Amino acid sequence: MSVAVVTGSAGLIGSEAVRMLTSSGYLVVGFDNDLRSKFFGPEASTRPTLRRLSTDLGASYVHHDVDVRDREAVGAVFRRYGKDIAVIVHAAAQPGHAKWSMGDPIEEFEINATATLGLLEGARKWCPEAVFLFCSTSKVYGDRINGLPMRELATRWEIEAGHEYQNGVTETMSIDGSTHTSLGMSKVAADIMVQEYGLHHGLRTAAFRNCVIAGSAHAASKSHGMLGYIMQVAARRRPYTVLGYGGKQVRDVLHVSDLVRAFTAVIADPHPGAVYNIGGGRYSSCSVLEAIRLAEEISGHEVTLSFDEQTRVGDHIWWIGSNELFQRHYPDWAPEYDVKAMLQEIYDVNDGWRTQA
Ligand SMILES: NC(=O)c1ccc[n+]([C@@H]2O[C@H](COP(=O)([O-])OP(=O)(O)OC[C@H]3O[C@@H](n4cnc5c(N)ncnc54)[C@H](O)[C@@H]3O)[C@@H](O)[C@H]2O)c1
Repeated sequence: MSVAVVTGSAGLIGSEAVRMLTSSGYLVVGFDNDLRSKFFGPEASTRPTLRRLSTDLGASYVHHDVDVRDREAVGAVFRRYGKDIAVIVHAAAQPGHAKWSMGDPIEEFEINATATLGLLEGARKWCPEAVFLFCSTSKVYGDRINGLPMRELATRWEIEAGHEYQNGVTETMSIDGSTHTSLGMSKVAADIMVQEYGLHHGLRTAAFRNCVIAGSAHAASKSHGMLGYIMQVAARRRPYTVLGYGGKQVRDVLHVSDLVRAFTAVIADPHPGAVYNIGGGRYSSCSVLEAIRLAEEISGHEVTLSFDEQTRVGDHIWWIGSNELFQRHYPDWAPEYDVKAMLQEIYDVNDGWRTQA
């Protein structure tokens, strides 16, 4: 039986990948030790998602409550399944920009970068034919985007009309000479490692530079999981503090199932060493203010807003990525969900929030 290894398997992207892979017939082996609850607090624990996976998937999902930095334990899994491992999805990380990032840059680097190197080495040694998918981030570009010409509109910032990135930032944007924060530093290092092992060690790697990924299974918290947190605040009638840019900062937003469909396309026909900006693009983007307005409309509750003009270090004023390269390689792929559909799904699935309001 073909085996898939998924790190961060109880997280938003990891758990969706686990479900896709088990339904495609793989035995899935997952690593997740709920470090998310350390990063973002107990409300961001991914244990409930893990329980649902175990209940729903039975013997087709084998969980290891192991830290991906533990090379001994991770190596034992690689040794055990060897060349039966056909897919690796690496989604375990400290993913958040604020709060934890910069708190302990060395530990953050070990989680995000050194552990990635360990997994790549494990793949090179034990299953060099496996497709290795890495969850990178648009944060690898640092805050370079903030230096591009922008216009302030009523509810969002917008790049100047006619700019080469008007339809989305391509992978040609430099990652040099900008503010990355320790999160960006560690993800750049990992992203480069994944390319290196694809281009020069022959592994079938791909790095996905995501912006905001959303879905109802996200253990959203104030510091990570923008759309889920905004919907939760509105549903529970909580106040919301907008951090910086008057709430007009823009993100493209991709539903996690759309991302995992992109994984499926790459598994079937990988381009080793490829790096893709992937997201909602022009089809699905919002500012914080626009997301709040939609969440109010869906929940029927007005959110009490306050504004903190202190922007987060390195925070993007605008990010819409281009899916052009990915769609050139995989012309059948396109995002299906838009922002409103994602918020509606998050609201519908988490109906317990309404009784807690
Ligand atoms: N969700 C997004 O909006 C987004 C955007 C850009 C990039 N990404 C990237 O995608 C990846 C996954 O994001 P996500 O939203 O699913 O995050 P998530 O926090 O929901 O999932 C990550 C999971 O990894 C686990 N984990 C963290 N460190 C670990 C470790 N050392 N050992 C074992 N398990 C560990 C966490 O407990 C969590 O369950 C990350 O690499 C992140 O940088 C996500």
